[in-house]
Amino acid sequence: MTALLETRGVWQRFGGLIANSDVSISVGRGEIVGLIGPNGAGKSTLFNLIAGVLPPTQGSIIFDGEDVTNLPAAARCQRGIGRTFQVVKSFETMTVIDNVIVGALVRNTVMREARRKAHEVLEFTGLAARADVLASDLVPAEKRRLEVARALATEPKLLLLDEVLTGLTPTEAQTGVALVRKVRETGVTVLMVEHVMEIVMPLVDRAIVLDLGKVLVEGKPADVVRDPKVITAYLGDRHAVGA
Ligand SMILES: Nc1ncnc2c1ncn2[C@@H]1O[C@H](COP(=O)(O)OP(=O)(O)O)[C@@H](O)[C@H]1O
Ligand SMILES: [Mg+2]
Repeated sequence: MTALLETRGVWQRFGGLIANSDVSISVGRGEIVGLIGPNGAGKSTLFNLIAGVLPPTQGSIIFDGEDVTNLPAAARCQRGIGRTFQVVKSFETMTVIDNVIVGALVRNTVMREARRKAHEVLEFTGLAARADVLASDLVPAEKRRLEVARALATEPKLLLLDEVLTGLTPTEAQTGVALVRKVRETGVTVLMVEHVMEIVMPLVDRAIVLDLGKVLVEGKPADVVRDPKVITAYLGDRHAVGA
C-alpha cells in the first residue's frame, strides 16, 4: 500500500536561512509518527509546507496519491489534512463550541449538521462540559485540546499535531497521549511534533529526527533514542538553551 503522505526532496529557504533541507519522509496509513528534534530544527516549517501554509522553495508534497504541492491550505484541508498550530490559534472571544463549529463547517455546510458534528467532537475530546464557555476562559491544557478538537472537526485523514503535549503537567500530558491513541483507533493517521522525547517516544510507531533542517535519523523509537547522532543533537540543544 502506498503512503498516505510523502514529502519528496523538500527545501524551505527564508532568505539566507535554510529551514528545511532536502527532506524526504513518508507516513503510512494508520501510523502514529513522531517528528522530533531540537528547537529550530525545522519541524514547524515542515508542518507548514505539508499543510500548505507556505509553498516549499523546492520539492513536492504527495498526499493520498495526489501531488498537492501547489494547492492552498484550504484545498489540502478539504482533501483531509488537519492541523494544529504550535502557537494556539483558537478564536478567544468565541465559545468552545463555536470554535469547533468553524472546523466542522469545512465538511458540513448546513449549520445544524456542523453543530451536531462539533458536539460529537467535544464529547470525543472530553470538552463537552466546557462547550459554552469562551475559549479565553480555558486553562492551557484545555486550549490545546480545543486545538485538537477544531482540527478533528474537519474530519482529517491525516492529523498534524504541533507540540500539543508540550508544557503540560505529566497528568495532562498522559490525558493527551490517551487522546492521540483514541484518534488513531478511529482510523486517523497522526504526524506529531514534540520537543520532549520522554512523552512522545512511548506513543509513536516510528520517529523521524530533524536537525538543522535535515532528516538526521528515522526508525523505531527504541533505536532512535539510543542513536549517538540523536543524543549529540539534543545535548547540543541543551547547551544552547543553557539548561
Ligand atoms: N517565517 C519565517 N521567516 C524566517 N525564518 C523562519 C520562519 N519560520 C521559521 N524560521 C526559521 O527557520 C528555522 C526553523 O524553525 P521552525 O521550523 O520553527 O523550527 P522548530 O519547529 O523545529 O523549532 C528557525 O531558524 C526559524 O527561526
Ligand atoms: Mg516548532
